[in-house]
Amino acid sequence: MRISLSEGTWDKSTVDIVAIAIPSGKTKFNRALGRIEGVTGKGTIKPLASDERFAGKASQRLKVTAGGKAKSRWLLLVGIGDEKDARKIAWTMGHALATAARAQKSAAVELPEVTPESVRAASQGLTAGAYRYTEYKSDKTDQTTLTSAIILDAPKGGRGLSAAVRAGKAIAESVNFARDLVNRPPNDLNPVTLARAASSESRKLGLSCRVWTKARIEKEGMNLLLAVNKGSAIDPRVIHVVYKPTRPKKKVVFVGKGLTFDAGGLCIKPAGSMADMKCDMAGAASTLGIVFAAARLKLPVEVHAVIGSTENMTGAKAYRPGDVYKSLEGKTVEVINTDAEGRLVLADVLTWSVRKLKPDYMIDHATLTGACMVALGPWRAGLYTDDDELASKYLDAAEGEGESFWRMPLDTDLRPSLKSPIADLKHIGGRYGGSITAALFLKEFVDETTWMHLDIAGPAFVDRAHGRLPKGGTGFGVATGVRFLEGLK
Ligand code: BES
Ligand code: MN
Ligand code: ZN
Repeated sequence: MRISLSEGTWDKSTVDIVAIAIPSGKTKFNRALGRIEGVTGKGTIKPLASDERFAGKASQRLKVTAGGKAKSRWLLLVGIGDEKDARKIAWTMGHALATAARAQKSAAVELPEVTPESVRAASQGLTAGAYRYTEYKSDKTDQTTLTSAIILDAPKGGRGLSAAVRAGKAIAESVNFARDLVNRPPNDLNPVTLARAASSESRKLGLSCRVWTKARIEKEGMNLLLAVNKGSAIDPRVIHVVYKPTRPKKKVVFVGKGLTFDAGGLCIKPAGSMADMKCDMAGAASTLGIVFAAARLKLPVEVHAVIGSTENMTGAKAYRPGDVYKSLEGKTVEVINTDAEGRLVLADVLTWSVRKLKPDYMIDHATLTGACMVALGPWRAGLYTDDDELASKYLDAAEGEGESFWRMPLDTDLRPSLKSPIADLKHIGGRYGGSITAALFLKEFVDETTWMHLDIAGPAFVDRAHGRLPKGGTGFGVATGVRFLEGLK
């Protein structure tokens, strides 16, 4: 989709469809509709709105034909409720427009306020809203038809506005890249093809991408990752993408869980819980999305994505409950439940990242525990770190990007539940606090590094669209990660 800026106003715009924000609250609502009727003619909108119970509430939309002196064919009235944040309104406007345009090709959006931040948000919303996954559909008519969108009322040569359009687009394209990976079926996306996807995108952006084969992973001594891989017919991969600008302000390493399918291993999942387990590489997808966005935006921060990728299957060589393996870090780990595989994979990758990359910040994204969804619901991610400043910066970044996180406690009094009678550690704790004990297990492998763990099991993949999350793979975490990187000094 081509996104451009124009000095024009909505009434003169000759596009197929124009989006206009409508607040709720009687006076504001009536004034907004009155202003439109000033162009389309008295009595052309208000009766329709009342007929459809459209009152400008957030998430309400009304699509009507434009008449009178309006030059476009359609008007899309977008309810924004009493939202005041110009960035959020702009994102919603762009997103609503891209979602509502069914057969329309050209569109325009009137923002309540035209600033670089709101233009960026609108362009981000447009690009994310136009996302469809149609790879395996024979009939592609579901695909978005929008080829161009105009952001109206933009002063000619307005400072930073064109750059804002590009930034919003770049971020949403990275979100969409992550969504595509998550949505790809697991017979198509496996550790080998995931690595290929990472390499080819890296090449396009001029980034270095190293892919380790099984032999290299063995040589490094990532025995926990290798243990999880044993039941799979497909080799594991470690994927390392680097974006390194000149004179970076900080070095941030993002680590991603890349389970391209999680059957649970010998402790096999029931069918219902297994159905969506292609999503278990969403952490890897978000991690890649972030490094690619950082490169597209040319941020002054060194960003690494390090991914451990395998399937968790039930083959004859599968690892068993009771097995003990020596981690790369050196601690021995007793396996209790083969379905708690994510933390094993992450442990080795975290150790390697700490030792070899020595980052200022290390942040992992992982669809780690069902327990996190029990605690926080399906749309919110758990955030774990001992660093208060990092937590508050991240939560701020997320707020602005409309992504929901909740800080969770790394309660050390749960740590004894990870004691094993025969090894240094067992990899799961007791019945309660399953998301916390998973995080405590990871903490054993990060040494002194400033580290944060994001359990995205819920929002990475959803069964129906909600807020900013589309049905299926969501690309959750990319926008927040980028916003956080932008704030680093
Ligand atoms: N990949 C799952 C967690 C998950 C659940 C992600 C639902 C997305 C949606 C993870 O590997 C897992 O199976 N965790 C177990 C851990 C348990 C065996 C200690 C869980 O949450 O049940
Ligand atoms: Mn599992
Ligand atoms: Zn898993």
